[in-house]
Amino acid sequence: MFDLPLVEKFVVEEGGSLISQELDLFTLRLDRWWDDLTEGLKVYGDSFDDERMRRLIKIMIKYAGERSEELRYLDEERVLRPNWFQSEKMVGYATYVDRFAGTLNGVQDRIDYLDDLGITYLHLMPLLEPRPGDSDGGYAVRDYKKVRSDLGSMEDLEDLASALRKRGISLVMDLVLNHVAMEHDWAKRAREGDVYYRDFFLVYPNREIPDQYEKSLPEVFPDFAPGNFTFDESLEGWVWTTFNSFQWDLNWANPEVFLAFVDIILSLANRGVEVLRLDAIAFLWKRLGTDCQNQPEVHEITIALRAIARIVAPGLIFKAEAIVGPADLVAYLGVGHNRGKVCDLAYHNSLMVQIWSMFAARDVRLGAFALSKIPPKAPTSAWITYLRCHDDIGWAIDDLDAKSVGLDGFAHRKFLSDFYSGEFFGSYAEGLVFQANPQTGDRRISGSTASLAGLNRAGKDGQLIDLAIARIVASYSLIMAFGGIPVMWMGDEVALLNDDHWAEELGHEGDNRWVHRPKMDWHRVENRRNDEVTMRIFTGLKHLIDVRKSLVQLDAAVEIEVLDVIDPSILPLIRRHHEGSLLILSNVSEGIRYYPISELVNNGIAKPFDALSSKYLNSDRNGYIRIEPYEHLWVIHKD
Ligand code: GLC
Repeated sequence: MFDLPLVEKFVVEEGGSLISQELDLFTLRLDRWWDDLTEGLKVYGDSFDDERMRRLIKIMIKYAGERSEELRYLDEERVLRPNWFQSEKMVGYATYVDRFAGTLNGVQDRIDYLDDLGITYLHLMPLLEPRPGDSDGGYAVRDYKKVRSDLGSMEDLEDLASALRKRGISLVMDLVLNHVAMEHDWAKRAREGDVYYRDFFLVYPNREIPDQYEKSLPEVFPDFAPGNFTFDESLEGWVWTTFNSFQWDLNWANPEVFLAFVDIILSLANRGVEVLRLDAIAFLWKRLGTDCQNQPEVHEITIALRAIARIVAPGLIFKAEAIVGPADLVAYLGVGHNRGKVCDLAYHNSLMVQIWSMFAARDVRLGAFALSKIPPKAPTSAWITYLRCHDDIGWAIDDLDAKSVGLDGFAHRKFLSDFYSGEFFGSYAEGLVFQANPQTGDRRISGSTASLAGLNRAGKDGQLIDLAIARIVASYSLIMAFGGIPVMWMGDEVALLNDDHWAEELGHEGDNRWVHRPKMDWHRVENRRNDEVTMRIFTGLKHLIDVRKSLVQLDAAVEIEVLDVIDPSILPLIRRHHEGSLLILSNVSEGIRYYPISELVNNGIAKPFDALSSKYLNSDRNGYIRIEPYEHLWVIHKD
C-alpha cells in the first residue's frame, strides 16, 4: 500500500525542524517499525492515502523535534533495554491524585513513601480535564491537553514525571480513547453542525441501525445508563454511548480520529508519561452482529499506534485495559503474526477474578483449570496482576471452564456475588452489589480488599482479624509471584476498609464503586507502628515486595505454569528459570493442608527452601509438608 522510499521522502521534506542526526535516527526507526505501521494502517484501506501519511509524518516530526533532552536519554535507555518493564524489581501502585495527595505537587511530597514501599510504577487515575459534574471518575475527558485545574497544570505533570523518574518510578496515565465527554470540543462542534466532527462519532438518524446493533450488544452500565445509544437533540440522531450517556464513543473507522489521537499520545509522551493505559480498548471497533468488543481491527490499530510511539518516543509503552473473557485476553499482547506487537502490558483480569473465587470457595480447581488454559503470552510482554482497582469485580467465569470442573457457571457466579456482598450464610466479606442486571443475573461487586477479605466483619474478634490479615497477605502473595507487574491499589497496604461515606460527595451518589476509592488515611500510615493490624498488613506486603525483588524467576519473560492440583485448597504454580525453578504454593483455606514433598523434588527442587520465611522445608514421616491456614510458600532449591 505505502512505499517506504516515498514516505522517507516525506520525512526529509517535512523534517526541517530536526537536525540531521535526529532525522537519521527518525528514518532508522521508521524503517524498523515500518511493517507494524503499515500492517496496522491497512484497517483504513485506501482512505489512508499519501496525503494522510504525509500529515501523520508531520505530526510525528513535530513531537520528535520537541522531545526534551531528558526524554531522549530515556528513549536511549529503553531501546538498549526493551525488557525493562519485565523485571522482578517492578512493583506498581495505583491511586487518585486528589485522594492520595491533593495535587500533583502533593504527590511529589509522597515520593519518599512510595520509594520506601518499593514502588517503581505509579498509575495516577484520570487527571486530564474532565466534564463538570459526574465524569465517571475522570473517564469522560473534555480536554486532553489540560490537567484538571484543582490538581495542577501540565507543567506540574511534567515536573512530577521527571521527579518520579529520578527515583526510578515510571509514571503511568490513562488514555481514554474509546470515547470523549459530550462537552469535548469535537462533540460540541458536531452538535453545532460541523460535518467533519460529526464524523468523529457514530450518529444514526433513527433507531433502525441502533436496534440492529442492540440485538447483540451487552450493557456496561445497565443500572444508570441502559442501552448503548443516546438521542441528542442538536444532532437530531442517536449517538453511540457504550458507557454513560455523556461519554460519546468515537468513530475509529475514521482515519481523522486516528490522527487526532496520534497527536494526543505523542503530546502526553513528551510530558514524560512512560506507560499509557489504553482505557476500554476492547470497545474501539464496532461490527454488526457481534458484541462489538475484541474485533481484530482493535489490535491492528493498536499495532499502528504503538509503532508510531516507538518511532517518536520509545520511552513510552502501552498497557491494555481489556476486561474481557480469558479467551480474548491474550490477543491484546498479540497472538499469531501479531505476537508481541500489540500492547506491552495487559491487565490479567482472569487472575484477579479467580483469586477472589478461590478464596471464597476454599477450592482452587476452577482457578487452576481456567488459568492453565490461557495460552502463553508473548515472551516480550508482561501481565499486570492486581487484586483490586478502582472498578467493580465482574465475575468473568467461563461456563465451559466451570463445567469442566463440575460446577455450573451461573450458580458459581451467583455464589460469588452472594458471598462478596455478604449475603451468603457464613460469608466473611462485606461488599456492595454494583449494576445488578436482572436479564443476565449478573451482580458485580464493589468493596475494598480489606473489607472483601473479612476485616470489616471481623470486628474486634482477634481470631477473625488474624484470618482476615492472613487472607489479604495470601491474596497479595499470588499477585506478587504470578509474574508481571503487580499493582497495589492505594490503601491496601494499610488495609483501608470500605468508605461508608462514599455517597456523600456530589456526583458520586449513584456509583458505589466510590466505596473502595477512599481518601488516603495518612494518619493511619504514619501511626502504623502503634496499630497492630495496620502494621502486620503493611510489613506483610512490604516483605512480599522485598522478597519478590530478589527472585530472578519473577522476571516476566519466564512463563507461569499451573501444576496438577493435588489438594483442592492448594494452588501449585511454577516458574521454570534456567537458574532454578520457583514453585509457588498457596493455601486458600483456613485449614491446615499437606503437600507431598516429592512434587517439589520431581520439579527439580531437591532441597526446598521457602524464600518468604527463609526456611528449609521438611516433610513429615509420610513425605508431606505441612501448610498452615492461608500460608503461601515461594519455594526454590537452595544448597
Ligand atoms: C474503564 C474504566 C472504568 C470506566 C470505563 C469507561 O473500564 O476502568 O472506570 O468506567 O473504562 O471509561
